[in-house]
Parts: sequence; C-alpha cells; structure tokens
Amino acid sequence: MNSEQRNILVTSALPYANGPIHIGHLVEYIQCDIWVRFQKMCGNQCIFVCADDAHGTPIMLKAEQEGLRPEDLVSVVSEEHQRDFLKFGVCFDNYHSTHSEENRQISCEIYTKLVAGGYVSRKTIEQAYDSSKKMFLPDRFVKGSCPKCGEPDQYGDSCENCGATYSPTDLIDPISALSGEPPEVRTSEHIFFELGQFENVLKEWLKQTDLHPGVVKKLDDWFESGLQNWDISRDEPYFGFEIPGEKGKYFYVWLDAPVGYLASFKNFCDRSDVDFNTFLNKESDAEFYHFIGKDIMYFHTLFWPAMLEGAGYRLPTNVFVHGFLTVNGQKMSKSRGSFVKASTYLSHLEPAYLRYYFAAKLGPAIEDIDLSWEDFEARVNSDLVGKFVNIGSRCSSFIEKRFDGILSNKVDSPELLETFKLASENIRDLYESREFAKAMREIMLLADLANRYINDEKPWVIAKDPNGDERLHQVATMGLVLFRIIAIYLKPVIPSIVSEIEKFFNEAPFCWNSTILSLANRRVNRFVPLIRRVESGNIKAMVEEVKNEDDQPTLSGSNSVEGIVSIEDFSKVELRVGLVEEASHVDGADKLLKLHVDLGDEKRQIFAGIKQAYSPESLVGKLVVVVANLAPRKMRFGVSEGMVLAAGSGGNDVFLVEPSEGAEPGMLIK
Ligand code: 2FM
Ligand code: ZN
Repeated sequence: MNSEQRNILVTSALPYANGPIHIGHLVEYIQCDIWVRFQKMCGNQCIFVCADDAHGTPIMLKAEQEGLRPEDLVSVVSEEHQRDFLKFGVCFDNYHSTHSEENRQISCEIYTKLVAGGYVSRKTIEQAYDSSKKMFLPDRFVKGSCPKCGEPDQYGDSCENCGATYSPTDLIDPISALSGEPPEVRTSEHIFFELGQFENVLKEWLKQTDLHPGVVKKLDDWFESGLQNWDISRDEPYFGFEIPGEKGKYFYVWLDAPVGYLASFKNFCDRSDVDFNTFLNKESDAEFYHFIGKDIMYFHTLFWPAMLEGAGYRLPTNVFVHGFLTVNGQKMSKSRGSFVKASTYLSHLEPAYLRYYFAAKLGPAIEDIDLSWEDFEARVNSDLVGKFVNIGSRCSSFIEKRFDGILSNKVDSPELLETFKLASENIRDLYESREFAKAMREIMLLADLANRYINDEKPWVIAKDPNGDERLHQVATMGLVLFRIIAIYLKPVIPSIVSEIEKFFNEAPFCWNSTILSLANRRVNRFVPLIRRVESGNIKAMVEEVKNEDDQPTLSGSNSVEGIVSIEDFSKVELRVGLVEEASHVDGADKLLKLHVDLGDEKRQIFAGIKQAYSPESLVGKLVVVVANLAPRKMRFGVSEGMVLAAGSGGNDVFLVEPSEGAEPGMLIK
C-alpha cells in the first residue's frame, strides 16, 4: 500500500429539504459512506461533507402550504435528514445547508468572478406567469396537453406518454398547477452562464479524469449536440440568494446547490485545522470526488466543473455516478409499498441489513440496482447471520466456558491464516474501485472457508474428548482469529456490528492493517448476540405500513418544536362521542377496518387500524371516542374523516377508548 497519506474530499448529493430520506436516496449515501469509511480505515485523511439543498420554488411553496417560513421548514427537515443518516451509520464529517452564510458568500464570489471573466450574459425570455399567485411558474408547475401527441395532463417540460420535450408555452390548454388558471405568457430578463466558452476546458478535464466509460459516453453525446447557455436566474418571489447587483433576481437553485459542497467544507474547515484552500485551489494535490445519481450528471460534469474553472477553483478528481434503485424491477411506488422512507424502514428492520444488501449489489457502473425483499431476506440471513456471525458464536462459547476467555498462543492452521491475510490486497483494491459487490463475494468466500474449517475440525466433538483441551483451545481460537479478519474486511459496510466485535476482542477500532496483529493469549469478552435474522413478518409489516402512509405535513404550526405539542395545540383537538353504525373489512388491508360513525349531526367514514383486535360485528352499535377535527386523510382505500381513539401496543393488543355511560353520539368530550 502507498504509505503516503492521501487527502480526500468527498461529497454526496445534497437532498432537497422538502421531503424525507427514502431507501432510494440511501443507495448513494451508503455507497459513499462505505467508501469514506474504507479510506479512513486505510489511514487517509478523508473528509465527507453534505448539506441540505434548501432553495427553490418547490420548497418555497411547500413551506407556504404548511404555514411555515421556508427557513423553518428547511431547518426541521434538515434535522430529520440528519437523524435518519445517523441511524443508518452515514457518518458525515459535516452536514450543512445551502441556506447558509458560507454558501451565500461563495456563491456570490463565484458569480462575481464569472461576470468578471465575461462568462455571463443576459437575455429576455418568455415564461408562464400565474397572475393570481403573482409569480413565474417553473416548467413542472404548468400542466396541459402534449403539443405532440395530445395526451392530457402533462407537465410543462416533457410528455410522459410520448417522451417529447418542449417548453411550457407549447402546451395545449395550459393551466397553472398552483391556481388551476391558464397562465399568461410574460417576458423577463434572465442571466445566463455561457457554458459553451468552457468546451475545450471540459474536454481536457474529460481526458485527464478517470470517468466511468458510461459517463464519458454521455458527455460525448452532449458535446455533439452542442453546449447551451444556462439560465441561472429566477425572478422573485423565490427562496434563495438574491444575485449581487440585481433587484428581485435570485440564483437558480442549481447554481448554489453544488456550491453547497464547498460551503459545507468551508464550515468544517472553520471549525477544524483543515485548510480550505489546500484542498480547493488550482494547484491542490488533494483528491476531490462527487458521488451522484445518473439524473444529475449534466450538472456535475458540465455546469459545475465549468463554474469551478471560471471562478479559479480546481476541478473534481472524479464524479462517481450510480443508477437508481428499483424494487422488484419496478420504480419505487407507494401503492405497491415500495416507496420506503428511511424512518419507516427503521421501525421494522436493522440498518445494517440494508447497508450489507446494497454493498452486495453495488459496483462502479451507472446501472440501476434492484432490491427484492425476498432476496434481501435470503442474502442477509445467509451471509451476515449464517456465514459471518455464526463463526463468532460457534467458537466464542468454548473460549469463554473452557478457557476463561483467553485465546491460545498457537495458530492451528498458519496456511489458512495466511490465505485470509493475503486476501487483504485484493479486497482493498475492490473497495477502492467501488467494486463492493465483488468485495462482498470475496469476503463471503473467506467466511465459507472459515466455516468449512470449523466443520472439518468439529470443536463440539473435541469438546467431549477428555484429552482434547489443547486442541479445542487452538481450533476455537483459530475460528475467532478468522472471524476477526472477516470483521475487519466488513467494517466499512457494517460498522455498528464490527464495533461490537472490536469490543469483544478488547481492541481499539480496527484499521485496514489490523489483520496482521497476533492474538496470542488475548483475553476476549463475552460474545453478545450481534444481529438477528431478518423475519419476513417484519418486511411484510413494513410494506403494509408504506401502503397506508399518507403525506404528513412537516410541522403542524410554525412554533412547534419536534416531539413537543404545546398545550394550546393540544387543546385544539376536538373529541366527540361517535356511534359505530357499520364496520367492515377492507380488501387488501391487514390492519384496517372501515367504520361508518354517527357523530350526532353528521356521519363520517373512518379507517381504523384495529382489525387484529376487533371483529367488525363486535363494533356495530358501540360508542367510541372520535377526533372530530382531524383533517381528512386520503388513504389508499379511501378518505378517512377522523380517528377513533384506541390505546395499546398494536396488533391484538389494542383497546378502544370508551366514552362514559350515558354518552350520546355527537357529545363533546372535555
Ligand atoms: O437532485 C437532487 O436531489 C438535488 N438536490 C441534488 C443536488 S446535488 C448538489 F449539486 F448540490
Ligand atoms: Zn406526448
């Protein structure tokens, strides 16, 4: 291995601050995190930064819808994102926001340099304008019939039916998605970045950079069709940074989004002894990598390097592009139960499972990766539980019970140990080149060898031999020595499990070279169960939950603090007595019953997750307590117009709250 420490700056794409992290996002964050952890284990300085992508019209509108200031929406969402990342072991050195002072400052600095360099021009363009909302409409906020095939209800940029691309002003019978009214066409002067001026620089960068052939092919196509000027301004109202020297004009979100990488890194440098310029000036010999999805390649391989060049910064060393996640070969979808949010996953399954599963599927290519839950269950149970953890649990009990937790001072099979150590270089190269699936295969081959060794030596038979002590000691020790090496190789992928293994071996955190250490006479600790098998019931419950999830507002009011409900908010809840008039099963729902409830002067349809505890027949004629002023929620099976109060831990342990005797339908409960 190169003994010189490398300095590496790594970024993963910045998630938009208006929605939750889901398993599709996690492909990238987990991929990136594995690579970063691997680099750190090798002793390199590797700094991993990210941020929330906070600007733009959709975020501004979502905040408005929820009665929040955009600043508040993005800070709440950022907390949620960071909580999810942490639970999945995605360990950023810094997580920042594009709505930050650092980002304002660097975005303005870059823009000013682009203006000074003559890379910016102005042009008046026509755009759809919603006169009742008093704003220009982004393409996605105009809908109408496709100008090419006539398909109704298409977005303003492209047709989902025939694939045609066009501008919103071409749509037939366009309407604004915000007001439902036909938009006007208005003109406005916009600011453009002249990408074409960077064609040669970009071609040169392409030559010097070890981009994946799939990325190179895309870039060649784009060069062929000609580099267009890029519209980098948006008119107010807009949530973003006002452009220096302009009134009412803001940077388009995609201008300051990648700058967010630098801003997050700057924020990190200001709090540590790492020097921003050493990594980012033109002569820097640090490495600089972006991990991104294939949909945002144009931004990262054309606009972004050109902006960096124009502003005098160094260019990225490489851009690592991955494909999308499909579930059972199809796009993620809520109705199929495959649009799984990180938080939903976490309430049913262990994060380590998904980290391992993705690792076992990922390579350096731009291909999509597919998740099938059956395959997930089989793979995790067979590899992590059956092959890997099993080695530790099989051997540790002998050491603990028979040898006071002390390992033997002799290695039983030096050749096998050598094979394990020698695998280090190949596995290291596979990690380095992001060939994670291949790395996992190699590691599991080692696990097979270790299990075969144990099966051949049969320590449980030796244990019965009155003269077998020494042999048993050596065989069980050998098993643990091999187990430890596999744990070292798996550490970038399942760090939380491996940290328990480090404790078991009484060791400081493993680094890549820890394989060479001898364990002679080492005292080990009690072996704690490291991982449970994946149960298909948990997967089923998760999928069911996804199908029934509705879009929750991010916050119910601008003063709310996460997890705390003020007494004022609580007192807004209106509880009324309801009489169940009808109750029935819901086709395709495991937990729900459909109720028709009489609230005195009105009837409501309410879906309640009490199917495992109550039969429909037992409910008819029963008085229940209803949250009467809950906003109607659209569920997969229909609209639920309220909630019946129940308590319990779920499943069949659920009890409906019953009103006191003499209650009448419609009565308010104080
Ligand atoms: O596509 C997205 O989700 C963007 N928020 C990614 C931005 S990456 C970077 F350029 F900021
Ligand atoms: Zn069409």
